[in-house]
Amino acid sequence: MSKSNNPIRFGIIGCAVIARKVSRAINLAPNATLYAIGSRSIEKAKKFAADNGFCETVKMYGSYNEVLDDPCVDAVYVPLPTSLHVQWAVMAAEKKKHVLLEKPTALNLADLEHILKACDSNGVQFMDGTMWLHHPRTAKMREMLSDAQLFGQLKSMYSSSTFSETLEFFENNIRVKPDLDALGALGDTGWYCIGAILWAANYKLPNTVMALPAANLNAAGVILACGCSFHWAGEDSKVATFHCSFLSHESMDLALYGSNGSLHLKDFIIPYQESSASFDFVSGAKFKELHIGWNLKPTKVQVFLELPQETLMVQEFARLVNIIKNSAGHPDSKWPEISRKTQLVMDAVKKSIELGFKPIDL
Ligand SMILES: *[C@@H]1O[C@H](CO)[C@@H](O)[C@H](O)[C@H]1NC(C)=O
Ligand SMILES: *[C@@H]1O[C@H](CO)[C@@H](O)[C@H](O)[C@H]1NC(C)=O
Repeated sequence: MSKSNNPIRFGIIGCAVIARKVSRAINLAPNATLYAIGSRSIEKAKKFAADNGFCETVKMYGSYNEVLDDPCVDAVYVPLPTSLHVQWAVMAAEKKKHVLLEKPTALNLADLEHILKACDSNGVQFMDGTMWLHHPRTAKMREMLSDAQLFGQLKSMYSSSTFSETLEFFENNIRVKPDLDALGALGDTGWYCIGAILWAANYKLPNTVMALPAANLNAAGVILACGCSFHWAGEDSKVATFHCSFLSHESMDLALYGSNGSLHLKDFIIPYQESSASFDFVSGAKFKELHIGWNLKPTKVQVFLELPQETLMVQEFARLVNIIKNSAGHPDSKWPEISRKTQLVMDAVKKSIELGFKPIDL
């Protein structure tokens, strides 16, 4: 992939598994380049660079601070455990680095607001690492949902994000450790479900959030599986439920039901394939006479990609950074606001679980 003359230079702090995917995305993005990688030791950084075939010119640092202090780094990608986000994202912003932060963005809304304030007051762009929002399929789904005749009014939604894990994961993975990723499955996979439901509802917050009475917590109190219901009151009333889990087989479902149409897909977070993706859509379907069948089957709506969704995410982030860096523009508020609303609802789900599945009014 040929690079533009003045690409946005990325530093990565932390050698998490997800950083492999994002470093590949940075390499594929025309307006971004991987400039530096920092780990807690120089050996770890070197091993990560070697394992992932990094270009020899990528700088390697034995600390996160050195990445943040490098004046050539424009932006940092932060894939650290969630409990470390507030410290390092704030420090990055204070060092005038634009921040691409892995999800969940923080352990709670107060921490995220601290990060967003630091980005805002230092004039740097913030975006979280939710990749599927950047897939062209998502834009296509939005187009069809917005068709008042085809889809009608959105009435109900269901989303799931689950995978099943080994004993080793439950004993050792950071995602089940209270001091590292205390939100467990809610933070890791529930983030996507909440985000998809808010996306479908055009980011209108629900009036009430009530967790389903079936949360599964480990001995340390970290959520391994949970579900939740949302309710929007008033004229545009609708409901949603989701289920997130480390205990069920892989699933990534999104189902949206409107007054005159419905939309389904089973791979909304990570599409089955990189180069194309689809969703099922049907409008105006009726049962046949005697209800022995339907008059219509859903249509597969297919979308093709030239670049993978995580590369499109990096490209969008680099585009916004470029406006600030080279045209004296201001940070864009769309992406931080999406993160803020997702985190706000996540806090409410957690609170509902902690209070014994009580409704929480927003
Ligand atoms: C529902 O969808 C069908 C087929 O797309 C269309 O013909 C019909 O006019 C729609 N109905 C309403 C109430 O919008
Ligand atoms: C990439 O950078 C070039 C030149 O700086 C610019 O013309 C182009 O629009 C950028 N592309 C994206 C996707 O931001």
